[in-house]
Amino acid sequence: MLVENLKTLLASTETFSLKSRNFHWNIEGSNFPQYHEFYDTLYTDSYATVDIIAEYIRVLNSYAPASLTRYAELTVIQDQTKIPRAELMFQESFEDCQKMIQLVVEIFDVATQERQQGIANFMAELQDLYSKKAWMIRSILKKERE
Ligand SMILES: [Fe+2]
Repeated sequence: MLVENLKTLLASTETFSLKSRNFHWNIEGSNFPQYHEFYDTLYTDSYATVDIIAEYIRVLNSYAPASLTRYAELTVIQDQTKIPRAELMFQESFEDCQKMIQLVVEIFDVATQERQQGIANFMAELQDLYSKKAWMIRSILKKERE
């Protein structure tokens, strides 16, 4: 059901954003300024989509979940309570981007079937957003040529 999928997306986006904030604050390494800045943008860009998702849930005449307990129940993105080293943070964020892409692609198909073109269009935008972030992280993780 489309609206239930959007609740999963809302919880997953909140979790993704919070984790990006964790990494923004706590990342360390010789490229700290760039890493700190990258995670600030990742947080800002993902968090900017939260309100739009919640309002689509209301458009579909359901209530938007907005509690940590509900988010923990619904999210496909795992919470991170530790402070991994920088490379592991990027690997985790890369995998999380893949999970977000998979989720929005599934919701795109459901929205299309239900002829909710605005929501489908928004899912396409989210696929672009997380695909570009995944490209950037993959490039950060790539070992430089000698
Ligand atoms: Fe900051």
